[in-house]
Amino acid sequence: MATVQADSKITIVGSGLIGQFWAMIFAGGGFKVTIFDIYPEQISKALENIKATLSRYESQGCLRGSLSASEQAALVTGCNELKKCLDGASYVQECVPESVDLKRKVFEQMDPFITEDMVVATSSSCICVSQFVGNLSHKHRTLVAHPVNPPYFIPLVEIVPGPWTLPDVTAKCRALMELVGQSPVTLSREVAGFALNRIQYSIINECWNMYKDGLLSAEDIDKVMTDGLGPRYAFIGPLETMHLNADGIVDYCNRYAQGAYNVCTTFKPPPIMYDVPTAEKMLQEIKKAIPVDKVQERRTWRDERLAALAALKRNLKEKTD
Ligand SMILES: NC(=O)c1ccc[n+]([C@@H]2O[C@H](COP(=O)([O-])OP(=O)(O)OC[C@H]3O[C@@H](n4cnc5c(N)ncnc54)[C@H](O)[C@@H]3O)[C@@H](O)[C@H]2O)c1
Repeated sequence: MATVQADSKITIVGSGLIGQFWAMIFAGGGFKVTIFDIYPEQISKALENIKATLSRYESQGCLRGSLSASEQAALVTGCNELKKCLDGASYVQECVPESVDLKRKVFEQMDPFITEDMVVATSSSCICVSQFVGNLSHKHRTLVAHPVNPPYFIPLVEIVPGPWTLPDVTAKCRALMELVGQSPVTLSREVAGFALNRIQYSIINECWNMYKDGLLSAEDIDKVMTDGLGPRYAFIGPLETMHLNADGIVDYCNRYAQGAYNVCTTFKPPPIMYDVPTAEKMLQEIKKAIPVDKVQERRTWRDERLAALAALKRNLKEKTD
């Protein structure tokens, strides 16, 4: 199977939040990683942060891979010259801010140094790669590999090839993601929102509309997910849920499709926009539990729970494998 060689070099372009996570994930898989950033001081900051975070993960028992935190940190180096950083790399993960113009500029700068055995992925959350690589001579070696925050604990990666991406490039990217413990899905073509945000926005739309209609409080809407659908979805998806909630998915359709259709006919159109007046009303409720100045604290709380869930899923998988 097409894959990136285990002893090859991986380059991260953009060393902010997501670039640092990717560096730790690839180092966890035993790869040598070089990080580049437009600001040299950011590279030093990122290296320090990676070292400290890996060491914290080790003491919390959630470090990935078989190497120690210090061995993994030693695999990650910085480089403030793009050409040198790309030299000899077999995989590049671009992680600069979400802007078509900036991504176009960065990919144009990389293009002369892309080789015919390189895979060059963008972490783009919603910009399709075809929006900024159209003029490149190596556009056939580029694609989207979109992680989910925090990628160290949420393994999904959406792989979205552009219209010119070679099948071998898509296959290599997917194989690499599997090798380092991520969970890739491959879209057959570009689509707005990829898969995760298409599903996420359809959920938010209904939550927004139910809140605006005064059907449930903000707290109770969130509870429908955290204590209702969420626990199930951590282990099985909506299609498998249909399959298990009857004698197979066909039986489910025979039994429940009419009822589901009747409910769906009562759905309102998507909110034109998530409107600020409704958001302000929600905030009055939400801030009682999480004031805006405690959001960072709550993010840490969330990441600790996601780490615990990832460990639980790993342990359960080990028991059943
Ligand atoms: N933050 C998230 O939750 C999240 C989740 C999934 C995907 N993403 C995507 O990942 C990408 C990076 O997001 P982030 O949150 O890490 O951003 P960030 O702002 O934390 O980091 C961006 C880094 O890119 C560097 N940079 C800016 N211009 C550059 C250039 N010309 N060359 C090299 N480096 C440059 C910045 O100095 C910074 O260190 C975006 O496309 C974003 O949409 C973000």
